[in-house]
Amino acid sequence: MTSKNKTSIQRIGVLTGGGDCPGLNAVIRAVTKTAIFDYGLEVMGIEDGFLGLVEGRMHPLDDFAVSGILTTGGTILGSNNKCNPARFAVHRADGEGYDYIDVTGRCLDHLDQFGIDALVVIGGDGTMACAQNFVEKGVICVGVPKTIDNDLVGTDVTFGFATAVNTATEAIDRIHTTAMSHHRAMVVEVMGRNAGWIALHAGVASGSDIILLPEIDFDLDAVCDKVIDRSKHGKRFSIICVSEGAKPRGGERVVKKVDLASPDPIRLGGIGRVLTEQIEEHTGIETRNTVLGYIQRGGTPVPEDRILGTEFGHKAVEVLMSGQKNRLVVMHGREVTHESLSAAAGKQRIVPLDHPLIAAAKAVGVSFGV
Ligand code: F6P
Repeated sequence: MTSKNKTSIQRIGVLTGGGDCPGLNAVIRAVTKTAIFDYGLEVMGIEDGFLGLVEGRMHPLDDFAVSGILTTGGTILGSNNKCNPARFAVHRADGEGYDYIDVTGRCLDHLDQFGIDALVVIGGDGTMACAQNFVEKGVICVGVPKTIDNDLVGTDVTFGFATAVNTATEAIDRIHTTAMSHHRAMVVEVMGRNAGWIALHAGVASGSDIILLPEIDFDLDAVCDKVIDRSKHGKRFSIICVSEGAKPRGGERVVKKVDLASPDPIRLGGIGRVLTEQIEEHTGIETRNTVLGYIQRGGTPVPEDRILGTEFGHKAVEVLMSGQKNRLVVMHGREVTHESLSAAAGKQRIVPLDHPLIAAAKAVGVSFGV
């Protein structure tokens, strides 16, 4: 096969950063195969996100290394959502908390030592912010937008989101039948951080009666009125799909954990439990809570994410080899194209209040708790 390589790039590094999601392996496979077959490049797999770059842990990826991974969840490279080389957390000598140091130089030395000419960085907003630091140091980077949260600025969609919505929808479908049998209100807490994309999509797809998003502060009375109203009309069960970032009007988000070693220290979770107790107390209707948690991130990617991952991975290498720097591969409409990586780094895309799916959901009787 003839190489299309017209650049000085001979060896690229690929890493997966942040929380894992279904479709990462599809991207790694597409990047590796496109790089080897179309451009005659060598590929190094950097282990555990930017931590592998800090510690100089990486290994060659060839055609065989990426065979059979398209359909598997997780990432064969490992990931890490704590390591930001520009603000690397090290335990203080007294064991109390962390000091933060800049280890970018160490990473640049490793890039040199392993002969890596360019990086494919697969991750969300935090990982892109780390990549931006390397762009500023002159490293050629291309980003690939990953996250189940679908909250990266610049792209209409991230891979991993479709699988998470599919998993959450299937789970709520199951909860639906047990809710009907027992005449209960069922609260289902889904992930998404500060964006309600998973809750909105899985909520609508599963026919949830109430959908609570981080973007719309809810009123507990409105939530309870909806549950009681349904009961009065002979619908003796209700499904409440709540995003982990949702909060009551005038109240606070429920924080599960603060992890100071992480660039994004707040871990959300627990609103489902709080809401369950409140609904049961206010309505007198038996109410149960289910937190879907990490099952939304794990497992086999749906075909949509395998396809998107393949398109994104292929495009990432094309963009890199066309001599463009500092780009993020994105989906606009139905077209895979690219945007400035700097414009997306560290920013989150939340659900706009005028989103057509909110209007459609309201039209079919969904309450957003207001
Ligand atoms: O960003 C993906 C995500 O799963 C969020 O939906 C969730 O808030 C967060 O990661 C959980 O992070 P961790 O893996 O650190 O618990």
